[in-house]
Amino acid sequence: MKKEKSAYRIPDAVIMPVFLAIIAFLTVSSAAYAQKFKGLAETPPMGWNSWNRFGPNINEQMIREMADAMVSSGMKAAGYEFINIDDTWEGYRDSLGFIHPDSTRFPHGMKALADYVHSKGLKLGIYSDAGDKTCAGRIGSRGHEYQDALTYAKWGIDYLKYDWCNTEGLNPIGAYTTMRNALYAAGRPIVFSICEWGSNKPWLWAGDVGNLWRTTSDISANFDHDVHHPTWTQLCVMSILDLQVPLRKYAGPGHWNDPDMLEVGNGMTHSEDRAHFSMWCMLAAPLIAGNDLRDMPAETKEILENREVIAVDQDSLGVEGFRYSSDDSLEVWFKPLEKGDWAMCFLNRSLSPRKINFDFQKEAVSDSISGRNADFGKITYALRNLWTGKDIGTTRAPLNAVVPGHDVLMLRLITK
Ligand code: GLA
Repeated sequence: MKKEKSAYRIPDAVIMPVFLAIIAFLTVSSAAYAQKFKGLAETPPMGWNSWNRFGPNINEQMIREMADAMVSSGMKAAGYEFINIDDTWEGYRDSLGFIHPDSTRFPHGMKALADYVHSKGLKLGIYSDAGDKTCAGRIGSRGHEYQDALTYAKWGIDYLKYDWCNTEGLNPIGAYTTMRNALYAAGRPIVFSICEWGSNKPWLWAGDVGNLWRTTSDISANFDHDVHHPTWTQLCVMSILDLQVPLRKYAGPGHWNDPDMLEVGNGMTHSEDRAHFSMWCMLAAPLIAGNDLRDMPAETKEILENREVIAVDQDSLGVEGFRYSSDDSLEVWFKPLEKGDWAMCFLNRSLSPRKINFDFQKEAVSDSISGRNADFGKITYALRNLWTGKDIGTTRAPLNAVVPGHDVLMLRLITK
């Protein structure tokens, strides 16, 4: 059959600009999808998460109590802001595929909980998994990414930890990018925490995808002994620390290496807790407390709320520290800070006390990542002990001290 001639043909002069405008629109909108929310996690996120202490034993009441405690304990004033619900909040998907929380654990729903947490001046985080089931066997997000992101946005969620169990056959870059795009499309700025345990080297590809990425398997509340389970190993603080050494160049404002949540207050000794916290701050790690905030001994609070140590973590330069030297279990770490300052940490990995005699005049510290040098011959820095809050001289004289076993001496070197 002969085609009927159209009575009116749109002139090329009109078609071309419209066509070009459509192409330009598609290019701009896909470019928008290709970026994260700007300005999120400019410094490493600080908050609390339920998993390390409570595992699957969570409910709405305790999350509310934790938000109350974050304020009353002084944690909020020290800079912690996220209350993050980990695995086992998930209930069921309705007939349209939308997710609902477990109604016995969260009877008033997530929106009400988010409103409550926000009323305290805090933010609420949630957890999901790129597979069809989470690590604890609850419902995952696979195939429902856009719906879930929309649901989180409607609830008022501010942070998503996205796990990697039950993902056989999934491409990690694709799976995490899909959820990143879904969050972006939902429109609410949500910090995106990638939790694939470093299995696929996220530091190489996740800078534009997430705000932080786990670099290792799960942490345990052990200083220097890994815990072996039948199918996986839970790492101790020192093992995780060693694994961070080659990764520092990949982190920076908006995209952080995540050596896992804190175990401070979960069973290690006071000095081990202090060393763990100090090293996480030297690493510019996200500071996500994992203890019971409702019941914090003064000595745990003293660690988690030390403003001068936290300032090392949250420093605006956003450069991770590095291991400067290592000698028979005694390590020296440096971290460049804003305005020419440095953080310095002596870490004693052994159980016996170690004497230190550090003659700054004989040392040269330089950092190829930040391009910073500490020329102790030319510049005199004042030394401040960040755990005692005392000024202890300058870099003109050698530093003599004793570092107890499994402990640190942490200093700020302040330009005069
Ligand atoms: C994984 C994660 C943990 C925690 C659990 C929850 O193991 O790495 O941090 O979220 O799943 O099931």
